[in-house]
Amino acid sequence: MENHLKTEDEENIDKVTKKGTTRRNIVLGVLLLICLAVSLTVGLVLHFQKKEDIPEPKKIIQIRNGASVNCHPDHLRDPTQIECENRGCLWSESVEERVPKCVYKAENTGYIANITQTPTGYTARLRRRGISRVYGMDIHEYMNVNIETYSTHALRIKFYPDGKFYEVPEEALTMNKVSGTGDRLYNVTIVREPYFGIAVTRISTGVTIFNTTLPGLMFSEQYIQMSTKLPSEYVYGFGEHNHRRLLHDMNWKTWSIFTRDVAPVDGWNLYGAQPTYMNLEEDGNANLVFLRNSNGMEVDLQPKPNPAITYRVIGGILDFYIFLGPTPEKAVQQYTEAIGRPMMPPYWSLGFHLCRWGYENLTTLRTVHDRMVEAGVPQDVQWGDIDYMYEHLDFTYDRVRYQGLPDFVKQLHDGGQKYIVMADPGIGADPELVRNASINSPGYYMYADGVNNSVFIMTADGKLMRGNVWPGETVFPDFSNFNTTVPYWQKWINFFRKEEGVEIDGLWVDMNEPANFIGGQYDDNQGTGCERNKWNYPPFIPNVLGRGTDGRLFNKTFCMDAKQHWGIHYDVHSLYGHSMSMVTHKALRNISPRKRPFILTRSNFPGTAKYAAHWLGDNQSQWRQIPWSIIGMLEYSIFGFTMVGADVCGFWFGITPELEELCLRWTQLGAFYPFARNHNAVNFRHQDPAAFGDKFAEIARSVLMTRYKFLPYIYTLMFHGHAEGKTVARPLLFEFPQDKATLSIDRQFLLGPAFMVTPVLVNGSRTVDCYFPEGRWFDYYTGHEIQTTKETVVLDAPLEKINLHIRGGYVLPWQQPANNTVHSRGKPMGLLVALDENHRASGDLFWDDGDSFETREKGEYLHVKFETAKSNFLSIEVIHNGTVSTDGLAFETIELYGLSRIPAEVKVNGRRVGRGSVRYQGANEIVQIFDQHLPIDQNHTLSWIVF
Ligand code: NOJ
Repeated sequence: MENHLKTEDEENIDKVTKKGTTRRNIVLGVLLLICLAVSLTVGLVLHFQKKEDIPEPKKIIQIRNGASVNCHPDHLRDPTQIECENRGCLWSESVEERVPKCVYKAENTGYIANITQTPTGYTARLRRRGISRVYGMDIHEYMNVNIETYSTHALRIKFYPDGKFYEVPEEALTMNKVSGTGDRLYNVTIVREPYFGIAVTRISTGVTIFNTTLPGLMFSEQYIQMSTKLPSEYVYGFGEHNHRRLLHDMNWKTWSIFTRDVAPVDGWNLYGAQPTYMNLEEDGNANLVFLRNSNGMEVDLQPKPNPAITYRVIGGILDFYIFLGPTPEKAVQQYTEAIGRPMMPPYWSLGFHLCRWGYENLTTLRTVHDRMVEAGVPQDVQWGDIDYMYEHLDFTYDRVRYQGLPDFVKQLHDGGQKYIVMADPGIGADPELVRNASINSPGYYMYADGVNNSVFIMTADGKLMRGNVWPGETVFPDFSNFNTTVPYWQKWINFFRKEEGVEIDGLWVDMNEPANFIGGQYDDNQGTGCERNKWNYPPFIPNVLGRGTDGRLFNKTFCMDAKQHWGIHYDVHSLYGHSMSMVTHKALRNISPRKRPFILTRSNFPGTAKYAAHWLGDNQSQWRQIPWSIIGMLEYSIFGFTMVGADVCGFWFGITPELEELCLRWTQLGAFYPFARNHNAVNFRHQDPAAFGDKFAEIARSVLMTRYKFLPYIYTLMFHGHAEGKTVARPLLFEFPQDKATLSIDRQFLLGPAFMVTPVLVNGSRTVDCYFPEGRWFDYYTGHEIQTTKETVVLDAPLEKINLHIRGGYVLPWQQPANNTVHSRGKPMGLLVALDENHRASGDLFWDDGDSFETREKGEYLHVKFETAKSNFLSIEVIHNGTVSTDGLAFETIELYGLSRIPAEVKVNGRRVGRGSVRYQGANEIVQIFDQHLPIDQNHTLSWIVF
């Protein structure tokens, strides 16, 4: 420990010397000496060892000065030296552009602590020791900290003031205990003097993974600041943003977190709020840190040699959950065990989805549908955007433009397809519109019903809060009030099904950041804006989009002083989409208790994945955007979502002829998003796979058929996500964290551990770079084994091909594809067995009826395990056989990848397979055993001998 800190001090001194800032050097040197002296004399270290070990012998801790904390993060302009010094901070010019010039001094911020041991850890009573004001507010003189063992693999550190405070309501996010076996993975060191800090160390390696012993710790009502020092600069996550790389650029980047309706644009906060990051330690261990806070915030990332994160949060409390993995995959599993596992999607939702904004009438929609059928492109779900609505009113359909919609939906259902529609939170309140709506849709009175039942959000002075979205003047259900909104939402979903006669299969909840075109609310004279108070114009505003020069937080959303059940909008803004997903889930459950709800939400918060899938919003049909979709998708895996994808082919700006190749390459990539939906904005050309002619349709058909073929594998991954929190779309670094080359890879990815996707992301390119980590890798199409691993290889990628590789050591279940999952689920199944160096492989299949709620929880499923018990011998073993009909499904074909020759003898269930049922496929590198009939709900064996 001491050595570790000593090294940092040396690094720190190096850094200062390099800059040649002698004055700063002297100041730091003096500070170091002071810190050291104080530490030596009064330093107290409490090791958070097993309870019986406490108290530990005192140790000496030095305060680290390497990282610096910006004292003037006001964003609009740089401070002057005088302004800086007036704040009591240190002015230090830097030659490096992004490095802050005004930084906190160690000696005049922070707290001193009185520490008490509790049955589960420690509490600390903090007393302010430095400046007493920040941004015109009092800094709390006293604070409390609980440090709590959450499991052997996780801990919680909670800072809270005396008296009343806001925190994320239990109802919004209940944290579950995290299971853990064996010894605790971490120690906590509490530094008491000269100022308070907490350091969490991984016992196995001695690496300190979280260390708050940095200047600038402060808590006030609307400004909380804390920094933590990281063990490495490998940081992933924080969202939602349009990041340009999966591995963060730590060079003083600031990312704000506050849900926001805006097309993904550079650097700003987007739809979801995900205050979660994963950090990979130098040795490949991973830790994941979740800050349970729903207020607006920003994080500053600080580069090597002193990687650190500074949080600036404008409300609530700091409530950290730290998960120690130690693998990236385990860290995510622990995280979702705590916040709730992602929902199990219905099988059909893994099929291909088609959507657009701008099917102006049913005729257009029918035309698109017919050409998709004609082209034989598989599709499971047709979507309806706001076009179907009467004047953009939820749960109505336009009797003129969409006459016959109920019949069309019946036709979809008869053909085995599904129909999902959008429902926005903004409920039309314009009196004339409301009147006309009841003529279009007799019995429709959603606005009046909401008013009568106190469903809507109210202003600070107790009036209906009126904003403006698609239907013009709108009011907004307070989805945090389940008592009123669940029956309300349920009633109007049912109205759509029963009275309007449109039987939907799921709901798409959009604009729930929440979006409000006017920014603020209408007053009695139809003026807009918000009262000038500390909630609408807080003293400090994180670097959120639209903060403007006058510091408004309500840009394109509600006034922050609006009242909701969970609190004022200021506190619960970023929970709106989450609460809407929860209420929609509850409503759909009540309507069809046996069915698995399918919900797609734009806004989200940690835990939303339990209820809904997420798509990455309004991207653009541009080449540069395609790779960003991979980054967003992989980040959402870190956030605990399994069902995620981007608008395939891009949402805005699709124009001919540029769109064609872009859309083709995007379709190839999108075929392997967990959630694969082509969606398009109004007024741009059609971009469904059948819209570009035969050649395009054929390529799209073929790649989507490959997706459909592997749906049993993807569905099994979804099961592991739902049951154990395993990721579906997986960065390479999750499987190979020790391989430094994988740490920055974000242009190729894995589905589960075994299926690697390497799309072309560049216009005109007919090759693609692909990195192959250690192990055996086989070309999916030919079975050809990649000869060079731990290297980047240039692969052929003609227009009609996306490179797919299978990792040796895995068995992937598959099924003959069809044009939708109703049809494919009855087809013969097969196994792709990719052997590793020792001719071993394993895998599994999860199978149920695909649509019932909680089949796993009720045991109504089949689980089959595939394992090479020894080389040349594969066992297929049913490990759970619940009451599920497998409809005579059988593995008819088994493919072996990685055998050097065709086997001289193959036996299935001990009986020799005739020569006529064994053949070489691909470039004679896949051994195919076909014409078998091995019922999937029975045990089987397969053996082979190669001479
Ligand atoms: C915004 C959504 O992000 C987009 O997907 C949708 O098409 C439009 N709203 C219109 O509803």
